[in-house]
Amino acid sequence: MRVLFVTSEVHPLIKTGGLADVSGALPPALEKLGLSVKVLLPGYPAVMQKIARSEIGTPIDIPGPLGTTSARLLPVRYGALDLLVLDAPDLFTRPGGPYNAPGGQDWPDNQFRFGALCHAAAWLSLSDTPLGWRPDILHGHDWQAGLAVAYCHLWGQHGRPRTVFTVHNLAYQGQFAAENVPHLRLPWEAYRHDGLEFWGGMSFLKAGLWYADQLTTVSPTYAREIQTPELGCGLDGLLSMRSSNLAGILNGIDDTEWNPGIDPFMPATFSDSKMAGKATVKRALQVASALTPDPQTPLFCVVSRLTHQKGLDLLADCLPDLVGRGAQFVLVGTGDPALEHRYRMLAAAYPGRISAQLKYDEGFSHLVIGGSDAIIVPSRFEPCGLTQMYGLRYGTLPVVRRTGGLADTVTDATPAAIENGSATGFTFDHADAAGLSWALSRALDLWKHPKLWKQVMRSAMTHDNSWDKAALDYQALYEGLLAKPL
Ligand code: ADP
Ligand code: GLC
Repeated sequence: MRVLFVTSEVHPLIKTGGLADVSGALPPALEKLGLSVKVLLPGYPAVMQKIARSEIGTPIDIPGPLGTTSARLLPVRYGALDLLVLDAPDLFTRPGGPYNAPGGQDWPDNQFRFGALCHAAAWLSLSDTPLGWRPDILHGHDWQAGLAVAYCHLWGQHGRPRTVFTVHNLAYQGQFAAENVPHLRLPWEAYRHDGLEFWGGMSFLKAGLWYADQLTTVSPTYAREIQTPELGCGLDGLLSMRSSNLAGILNGIDDTEWNPGIDPFMPATFSDSKMAGKATVKRALQVASALTPDPQTPLFCVVSRLTHQKGLDLLADCLPDLVGRGAQFVLVGTGDPALEHRYRMLAAAYPGRISAQLKYDEGFSHLVIGGSDAIIVPSRFEPCGLTQMYGLRYGTLPVVRRTGGLADTVTDATPAAIENGSATGFTFDHADAAGLSWALSRALDLWKHPKLWKQVMRSAMTHDNSWDKAALDYQALYEGLLAKPL
């Protein structure tokens, strides 16, 4: 079975969040099952630089590319990934991030940048290309891939792949003015409520949700939540209508990247049966973050984008009390300038106790998650969340709001769950400082019982969150689609 992934981020080539982790880990997990998976992504400067050192196959020109005068596909084998890099310098050779200019504002032509990605995907899916490889399944991820699905359905009268569209975050919708419809080579007939119209404009996300044969999202709980007005972002009606074609498949984590037994970013390694190395990592983290080195002090951390979604304003309210009760805290993250400022101020007010590392640093994030005792994820909503799973793997107990994938991956340390060995962390329900503060207190209480804390660490570290199960679920879903007539 041939599967074409269409995605705007792939670790280790380009990453702003968890989508990159998934796009980098799920294709190899599917290939292990015998599927042929190619990953189509834009040729941003970071990607072009990284692939320059690998073996690039013969470039393939795309006829009539969208949004630019010339574009080509570069087939590249990069580690375990089979990539198709969309080399379109007019669209992607720019400073800044994948979606934003260096000042933080969205690129004004994002509809054409990701429209071109989708057009390339449709060309690969609907014609006999020099690649000699036509997908049976087109699998698009998030709004940036929404039009790939729409093009296949609108242009594929003479045969098309089955289409799967995965929502990693419903809050990002790819909303543009209606006047773009013809420029994106879409027929005006598709611009209607029963199509890609959304709030008087056109939405890439809605296009994916409307046209795809099958929808998925990244946890069972989020699959339910997005069918409600609270978390449906205005699309709950459509998602409820499509609920029989909407599956929640929990993400896994990449054991070759996030494994405390082999992690090259830590000064020592450890495992559930040999935990001694964790103390060395904790000390290194305390030193690197200018926290007072002390093995007895419980060390909490956050590794996150700083956005409203992540609830880190609530945490800022709780921090003075947390460190007042003897804990330390380190944050690594970037984003909202107001939140960055708030954490900078907190670090200045509590030297040696609070550290704010306002940067994006993959290697340092491993040291932080490996060396901390607990990781806090107080999200208002969370489709899946990966850092709590990294925390579990490294015996860094998650303190999470019970929403989305956080609810599906962490078992609260109630007395009964501690007793029966199922506890792996701490959960709270209400998205407010009082709720979070309550969960943090419970973590501090358990810390006073080192034997119990260690027992919960062991359950966390042995919790199975590999990609193997999810890969089997996606394979079954693809097979189910192929078994049905178009
Ligand atoms: P989201 O995709 O919503 O950002 P996830 O928890 O799914 O949330 O994934 C976030 C990913 O980005 C994780 O791999 C996390 O380690 C990483 N990450 C977030 N912020 C940083 C940072 N400042 N430095 C390094 N890695 C980060
Ligand atoms: C999104 C979500 C996050 C999820 C990630 C990977 O960025 O915000 O919860 O883990 O996608 O699916």
